[in-house]
Amino acid sequence: MDNWDRLAAHHARQGARDIAALFDDAERAADFTVAEGDMLFDYSKTAIDRTARELLLDLAEASGVAARRDAMFAGARINETEDRAVLHTALRNPDGALELDGADVMAPVRDTLARMERFAGDVRAGRFKGAGGRVTDVVNIGIGGSDLGPAMAVAALAPFHGGPRVHFVSNVDGAHLHDVVAGLDPATTLVIVCSKTFTTIETMTNARSARAWMTGGVREPEAQFAAVSSAVERTGAFGIAPERVFGFADWVGGRYSVWGPVGLALMIAIGPQRFREFLAGGAAMDTHFRTAPLRANMPVMLALVGIWHNQIAGHPTRAVLPYDQRLALLPAYLQQLEMESNGKRVAMDGTDLDRPSGPVVWGAPGTNGQHAFYQLLHQGTQIVPCEFLVAAQGHEPALEHHHQLLLANCLAQSEALMRGRSLDQARALMTEAGLEGAELERQARHRVFPGNRPSTTLLYPALTPETLGRIIALYEHRVFVEGVILGINSFDQWGVELGKELADRMLRAVEGGPAPEGVSPSTRRLLSRVLRLRG
Ligand code: F6P
Repeated sequence: MDNWDRLAAHHARQGARDIAALFDDAERAADFTVAEGDMLFDYSKTAIDRTARELLLDLAEASGVAARRDAMFAGARINETEDRAVLHTALRNPDGALELDGADVMAPVRDTLARMERFAGDVRAGRFKGAGGRVTDVVNIGIGGSDLGPAMAVAALAPFHGGPRVHFVSNVDGAHLHDVVAGLDPATTLVIVCSKTFTTIETMTNARSARAWMTGGVREPEAQFAAVSSAVERTGAFGIAPERVFGFADWVGGRYSVWGPVGLALMIAIGPQRFREFLAGGAAMDTHFRTAPLRANMPVMLALVGIWHNQIAGHPTRAVLPYDQRLALLPAYLQQLEMESNGKRVAMDGTDLDRPSGPVVWGAPGTNGQHAFYQLLHQGTQIVPCEFLVAAQGHEPALEHHHQLLLANCLAQSEALMRGRSLDQARALMTEAGLEGAELERQARHRVFPGNRPSTTLLYPALTPETLGRIIALYEHRVFVEGVILGINSFDQWGVELGKELADRMLRAVEGGPAPEGVSPSTRRLLSRVLRLRG
């Protein structure tokens, strides 16, 4: 029997136990939590009992999580299918020392960070000017990891903004670029073309269209363009001067890249000092991840809770529920981080995975979700493990009561999911409401909540740049640990290739050329209808 079998057997015996009853153990509320600084991760409202936890920790030990983690930080080429190191952690530790293949990794990191700081400072202070003077608006053009990280972080850290307005254009749908630039003055707009490869069709199409838009009001549009890429040679071909090109190495994966030049829009929004605090938060979580014993290690325990819910209990999705309007983009950010990293079907050695890989990640901020999809969370037939995030303090002292309501709702939801409401309790409610007989019975059944639905809560004092850095690094390492336990490479993304290739060929057909070889009769019919509708 291996660790997986032992976990499956334990789950079969105990997994459906009453979570609320686990609190008969007076230590549970304190013991099933992990702290990192002033941040607390509470996983006590799950069916993980002491035995399950030991078995999960055995699994992590046996999977070599600690050795793999150390290899990652040391710069080993753990992204084996792309033969690359994985060193986004170096970006948030600029004062560290690291060599890769005999070359100093940190000198160029520090150099680029310093250049970013000068440029961001110049833009914020009005020293860098557009044709019409001081920059009022920055438009980041990128997609996937070149968009989701900075877009999420810029929204999250709105109370710390102090520079020009920052906007994001990602979708190749022309509506996105159109709607974003609609109210902007080209003469006071800075465009950042953000693309690791500088070949992504969406980004390059939007970049060219943005340049055309700017040509309408500016004689030298390229002078108001900056570029972020690990393919700096391509940025020159676009016409962007080297002093506004910010490069990074191929050991930074797109979805892990917000810590470096991809975070330029964030740095312009919050300023270099706050950006350093954001980096320091990520670095603090790195130190914790590297040094805390597995059972007191927040990313490890978050990962093990994920493994328990997905691979052991078989819940195919998990909901990310930030009780923070400014984290509205966090579910989408984590969707890419988790699903592009761990949505794989073969192990590192190319063999088929013998268990499900990462779950579907979805979610929306509370309290909005409560008035939309929580119905299913409470009474649906499938169980969705919920991950709540909340800050003890908001940033709006004048609206303090709002934050109290927010907190009360967050705490109430995890309690309600766990406790539920029995048929007897529902009957009592209906009796109070004056019902009786068959009608009472019928109405009562609709008001039953089965309860016993697992959730975790991440609680922190306030959403600052430093805390956001810790949260993002926490989730990055969670994904890493889950990947190691599943034996997969969390750092490639071959699954995005096929659709891209077909889209290239389909484009010619949409432009009026022949349908690509081998497409199905369904697509052929859709294509001809599209062409007919487009006249
Ligand atoms: O399509 C997937 C992907 O390669 C992501 O991994 C990446 O973050 C995104 O596209 C954007 O890529 P780039 O930064 O090279 O434009």
